[in-house]
Amino acid sequence: MCMATMVTEPAGELQFLRPEALIDLAAARHNLNCARTAAPCSRVIAVIKSNAYGHGMLRIAQALDEADAFGLSRMEEAVRLRQAGFEQRLIVLEGFFGSDELEAASHYQVELAVNGWEQLLLLEKSQLQQQVTCWLKVDTGMHRLGFPPAEAARAHRSLENCISVRPPIRLMTHLANADDLQDSATDCQMQLFLPLISQLGGEISIANSAALLGWPQTHYDWVRPGIMLYGASPLLGGTGEKHELKPVMTLSSRLIAVNQCQSGDRVGYGGGWRCPEPMPVGVVAIGYGDGYPRHAPSGTPLLVNGSRVPLIGRVSMDMVTVDLRSQPQAKVGDPVILWGRGLPVEVIAQAAGTISYELLCSVSQRVRFIEEGFG
Ligand SMILES: Cc1ncc(COP(=O)(O)O)c(C=O)c1O
Repeated sequence: MCMATMVTEPAGELQFLRPEALIDLAAARHNLNCARTAAPCSRVIAVIKSNAYGHGMLRIAQALDEADAFGLSRMEEAVRLRQAGFEQRLIVLEGFFGSDELEAASHYQVELAVNGWEQLLLLEKSQLQQQVTCWLKVDTGMHRLGFPPAEAARAHRSLENCISVRPPIRLMTHLANADDLQDSATDCQMQLFLPLISQLGGEISIANSAALLGWPQTHYDWVRPGIMLYGASPLLGGTGEKHELKPVMTLSSRLIAVNQCQSGDRVGYGGGWRCPEPMPVGVVAIGYGDGYPRHAPSGTPLLVNGSRVPLIGRVSMDMVTVDLRSQPQAKVGDPVILWGRGLPVEVIAQAAGTISYELLCSVSQRVRFIEEGFG
């Protein structure tokens, strides 16, 4: 006879060591106010796609419930918000791909970007219960999604004549280089879009975070900030602090070992980092399995007990190692901040050769998310 083994749960909630992402919802609200201050005549589409840039879509939607609309990339995200009870205007910036998504947009009253003739054809063939609100997206230079400017008037007419579409049609374009205030590409895109604004009219949306902060001539009726709502600078080279933004996510963990290494000792996989003298090496419980970038090189800063120390050696799946020579008193259990309060995520992104967006979006489910600052 086979005896089943009973696994009993220990009583009470166990607190295992696990990296934490503290999500400061008051900071998110503060950043939304910064967006409003910088674009006082525009309404705000708060972009909360991709799980609100890794922060948790539902909690951020709740914190930013005063936004005029939410911007998403996929229909699934919009449906999730509706099913959770959010009644704000929702705009799916990538539009829809198939009649199921179109029917969902109609049923849940989700607004759609219309990015090409395939989508327009689907709209024309559809028989929807309720009309949908549409944003005609024009490709003024990104060459990703949108109608070429020369075809925009024809697409606009088709949308106006489509019984599934609720008038009036709105206009949208997306800027490719607004993060660089010296780059003339933004002016070129605006030169292509301005005649369509005059010709077609309606409500207009152009500005992402970078344009919102750096290109006031792009503001018009609706701005579409994403990254700045999470506290990171959208402009090249700076940090959110410069624009009075506050970091929403603080990623932290703890020291789980402190090793007294000798001169010449090699640290981590590949042993690429050698101790130049006898020194304490700290081991922190976080790695690429948690979303810390594997490509962060030696020298990337972390905060141990609030003071900067450099990463040394390779990032592993579950651990990183740090040079504790400037923190000889540091001990097992001490707190470590990877980015967030006191250490801008932009600094880590720059060191790792990526952008803050990618780091924030990559924090894995293994990390414990904790909210503060709501209510
Ligand atoms: C169409 C569109 N609008 C607005 C945004 C928000 O951009 P950002 O996060 O740079 O403010 C995005 C993000 O990629 C986007 O794709």
